[in-house]
This record gives sequence, structure tokens and C-alpha cells, in this order.
Amino acid sequence: MGDHSHHHGHGKDLDWNAMGESIELRAEVYRPLYAQIIDAVRERMPDPSLIIDAGSGPGVVSCALAEAFPRAEVVALDNAPALLERAQRRADAAGLRVRTLLGQIPDAFAGLAGADVVWFGHSLHHVGDQKAALAAAARAMAAGGLLVLLEGGLPARWLPRDIGIGRPGLQARLEAAREEWFAAMRSALPDARHEVEDWPALLAAAGLKPAGTRSFLLDLPAPVPPKVRDHLIAMLEREREATAEHLPAEDLATLDRLLDPDDPAGLRRRPDVFLLDAQTVHFAVKE
Ligand SMILES: C[S@@+](CC[C@H](N)C(=O)[O-])C[C@H]1O[C@@H](n2cnc3c(N)ncnc32)[C@H](O)[C@@H]1O
Repeated sequence: MGDHSHHHGHGKDLDWNAMGESIELRAEVYRPLYAQIIDAVRERMPDPSLIIDAGSGPGVVSCALAEAFPRAEVVALDNAPALLERAQRRADAAGLRVRTLLGQIPDAFAGLAGADVVWFGHSLHHVGDQKAALAAAARAMAAGGLLVLLEGGLPARWLPRDIGIGRPGLQARLEAAREEWFAAMRSALPDARHEVEDWPALLAAAGLKPAGTRSFLLDLPAPVPPKVRDHLIAMLEREREATAEHLPAEDLATLDRLLDPDDPAGLRRRPDVFLLDAQTVHFAVKE
């Protein structure tokens, strides 16, 4: 299921509007990875006119797309108004052509047509009926259009196996706990439908032609700059709340030390913090 650690809210129901800052920070840290994906999009679609960023959040990627394709109109589609306000502010400040569209996926696609690129960045797995979302996106695409689906990859790693405090292997246990959280999050979604996460098969079921799957690496070795630490601390704070019920007390104590800004063994101060992540992207074309 890949890296879905970055955007978890506190409970099973996410309050997206309150998460603008942390989603934005994460996307900024991941900019080098998104730049590689955008290059891969450009190879397939050199001069798009209309790009839809479906589940854009605060628009870091919408702006990166607008910058990479200055001739295109980028539509940032999301159902969280506070996030779209951030997206609009970011675009205006950079003088980029981004139009925000407040609406629900899949329904909001009905008002869109002729898209050359539809980008789903970690958003599809937050929609209850993922098949309906892909089918609606496909209908809004131009012939020859490209769907770019970011789902799956490897869970991010940011500390060595043995960190000198607590029981080694903390991150592996966090990942297992996160899977429990993720399953509960998905089943609580409106219109929740269970799907086997064979993404190319789901794209094909939406009437699109799968056009390749590739994974992209984010490799930020230690020592990392403060912004990367900020992101990891924000991510771990959310993750601690989301997974607390599934973790042993010893691990919760270790997390508290990692989150303590004054602890030399904490994420703010320790020298061995890095960020290694792999994001899988599934491409599909509308014939
Ligand atoms: C994890 S964030 C990803 C944001 C952005 N794509 C990025 O990569 O930084 C998921 C986004 O999907 C939006 N979202 C979730 N379900 C949605 C739905 N049914 N309709 C529209 N947007 C939705 C959330 O508001 C949130 O902004």
C-alpha cells in the first residue's frame, strides 16, 4: 500500500482541512521525486492543454505541473476548501495558471472534459469507490489523454534498524500498525468498496489502456536539513496517534523520545536521520 504515512489525521476520519500545512510540507520535501514523475509525464505527453490534479490538496504538485507545462491550464480538484485556498494562494504567489475546483471525486469529474492529463497523487485510496472514480476520470479525458496514478511503492524509511533506544525494528512495527489503521480508514469511507489493489487492472476496468508502471526514488541521505526533520516529526506525530492502539508501550515510549525536541536521541537532533522512499506510478492512456 505504499507510503500513506504522510497524510494521516488523528482518527479514522480524516480532517483534511486541518492538514494543509503538513501535506504541503511533505509535498515540498518530495519535490525532487515529483520532478522525476513530471519528466516521465512529459515524455508521454509533451504539450498538454488541460491537466486535472485530482485530490490536489494544497496544490504543491498542481503548481509544479503548471510550472512544467506553462501552456496548460491546471485544475486543482479537491473537496477540502481550506486546502484549495492554500493552492490558490501558492499559485497566485508564483504567477502560475491554476484553477481550483471544489468538488467530490467522482462526481466533480462530470463538469470536466477533454483532459490531457489526470493526476491522482495519493488521493484515490481516500475515495470509497475507487472504480467509480477512475471511470469518471476516464470520461473526462481527451482521446490520447494520460492518467497518472500514484499508488503503492515502498514504505518510507528514515532511521536505521537499531537507533540505540527502544527495541530495534521500530519502523517495521509502525508499518504493520499503519496497515491496521489504513484498513479501518478505508472501510469507514462513504461508499467504501473493497478492491484488490491491482492498479493496472482497475485502470483497464475503467476503460483505459495501462501504459506502464514505474517506481521513483526519493533519496535524502543523512544529514538532512531542518525542513526534512520538520516533515518527519509532523508525520510521526500523526502516526503515533493513528497507530497507538496497535503498538506496545515500549514502542510508544520510544516514539515519545523521538518526538521530544530536547532529547539528543530525538528526530530533531540526532544525526542519523535520513529519508528514503519509493513511489510507484501507474500510467494509462485513453484510446
Ligand atoms: C493525501 S492528500 C494528497 C494531496 C496531494 N495530491 C499531494 O500529493 O500532496 C489527499 C487529498 O485528497 C483529497 N480527497 C480525498 N477524498 C476526496 C474526494 N472524495 N473528493 C475530492 N478530494 C478528495 C483530500 O482532501 C486531500 O487533499
